[in-house]
Amino acid sequence: MQRIIKLRVFLKVNGWMLITALLFSGCASKQQGHQNSKEYHNGMVVSASPFASKVGLDILKKGGNAVDAAVAVQFALAVVYPNAGNIGGGGFMVYRSASGETNTLDFREKAGASASRDMYLDAAGAPIVDKSLYGQLAAGVPGSVAGMVAAHEKYGKLPWATLLEPAILLARNGFPLSAQQVGELNNLHDQLLKLNPDGTALLKDGKWATSDLLKQEELAGTLELIRDQGRAGFYEGKVADQIIQEMKRGAGILTKTDLQQYQAVWRKAITGNYKDYKVITMPPPSSGGIALIQLLRSVEAYPLKRWGFQQDSTVQLMVEAERRVYADRATHLGDPDFYKVPQAALLDEQYTKDRMSNFDWSKATPSANIKAGKINGKEHEETTHFSIVDKAGNAVSITTTLNGSYGAVVAVKGAGFLLNNEMDDFSVKPGAPNMYGLVGGEANAIAPGKRMLSSMTPTILENDGKLFMVVGTPGGSTIITSVFQTILNVIEFDQDMQQAVSAKRFHHQWLPDVIYTESGAIDAVNRAKLEAKGYIIEPRGPMGRVDAILKTKQGGYQGAADPRGDDQWLGW
Ligand code: GLY
Repeated sequence: MQRIIKLRVFLKVNGWMLITALLFSGCASKQQGHQNSKEYHNGMVVSASPFASKVGLDILKKGGNAVDAAVAVQFALAVVYPNAGNIGGGGFMVYRSASGETNTLDFREKAGASASRDMYLDAAGAPIVDKSLYGQLAAGVPGSVAGMVAAHEKYGKLPWATLLEPAILLARNGFPLSAQQVGELNNLHDQLLKLNPDGTALLKDGKWATSDLLKQEELAGTLELIRDQGRAGFYEGKVADQIIQEMKRGAGILTKTDLQQYQAVWRKAITGNYKDYKVITMPPPSSGGIALIQLLRSVEAYPLKRWGFQQDSTVQLMVEAERRVYADRATHLGDPDFYKVPQAALLDEQYTKDRMSNFDWSKATPSANIKAGKINGKEHEETTHFSIVDKAGNAVSITTTLNGSYGAVVAVKGAGFLLNNEMDDFSVKPGAPNMYGLVGGEANAIAPGKRMLSSMTPTILENDGKLFMVVGTPGGSTIITSVFQTILNVIEFDQDMQQAVSAKRFHHQWLPDVIYTESGAIDAVNRAKLEAKGYIIEPRGPMGRVDAILKTKQGGYQGAADPRGDDQWLGW
């Protein structure tokens, strides 16, 4: 009897945790630290949320393919990971079919038709702090719903409604908040209140506590409209009206025409080789793909394996490559529909070799001596990535974002979803230093209908013509270097997928001329050697949350979820 009472109390207190545990029993779980994960042969989903990963896995088990699962995960993340998962934001998808066909989908947000180059400047021409960051004016035209519709139309197998159902249930019935989410929401309380005076489901009287259920009835209603009407359920009718009303409340500029005209764009993947591996990645308006291939090419000729993981020569080489590539990125990259990105020149092998030729092993190259250009301003790091492979071997790599954590911090009244603040990814004032002393590029100046430059780097690798890795991460400007390091950790340093994801990271982005390191990324001996050559090394908090899948030599899928977050891989 006592046992039953104890069980009841336990269920009441820990009910959601228990349900969660039961939900995931029989599947793989998150692997902390450096452990080999088991291999699975029928499919794998890795995302920032255990609930979203479970949604994806269930779709695979129902016979859905990787794109079906990706659509379901994108909508589920909009519910269970509201700081970056979204329907009010945008993103990029890299796809590789089991037979090796590749494609990418650009569902990046766009500036509204009445956006203008100087819209975030004051009368004296100085950037107005926070204007591009918070509130309705910070939002670009959302691309995620159009993107998911386009992905499903081209590659989906299961009915559209089936893919929306899990997200609707999670929104309506609620899900238990993790400790990390509770901390974020409580920290954001005052700002949420200020920017949402009529309330939002993300606000609670008093403080949120771990395992509190977050129910989002308005969001459930919006998802039902998308389920029933496809893109018209978002870009037209009730939800479009609600977005326009929201714009009016906060001096936003998006119009019904902006919404109706938004189109996701299929773009040819960028590909390049690193040793025996083919890298399939995202073209502009992401800078990520070009930069990743440039980085890999820059270090390819050197004996990284012999030097070893995170040893001084390895770090020095990678940092010198990063310095040069980020300098290029700042000048030459923008929306290819508006700016002629010199893609072929940047990806030319000789060009990369030439760029590395002035590098001196005896000392750090000052960034002031690297003249390629001007860098975009600070970037927000609260994006999210998910990787999926299905039974047939089709692979999807999606990175999606609202930009800052909780985007513009404005939930569309009545519709229950957050607006992005992606306009801040433009160079708010091209040619002049921003508040961080960085200079924005002309290629990424604001223009009506233009997409803002991104660092998102969803990527898939092949080896011997077969799928090898699916990888990506959030992290703003650190996205590219986190993906770069994860790939090298596996290929050069023989780490398994989880070791490669868990490994401590470092980052250099040309300006500021500093190597940022996670705690423990570079040991004291190697640090001293680098500092003696003039490198400035500064500790900082966690970088990125890489969620990746490796196809092993045995033919199974090995998932890796980043221990920096609540991320989880699930395979079957
Ligand atoms: N908003 C982050 C990125 O697109 O890179």
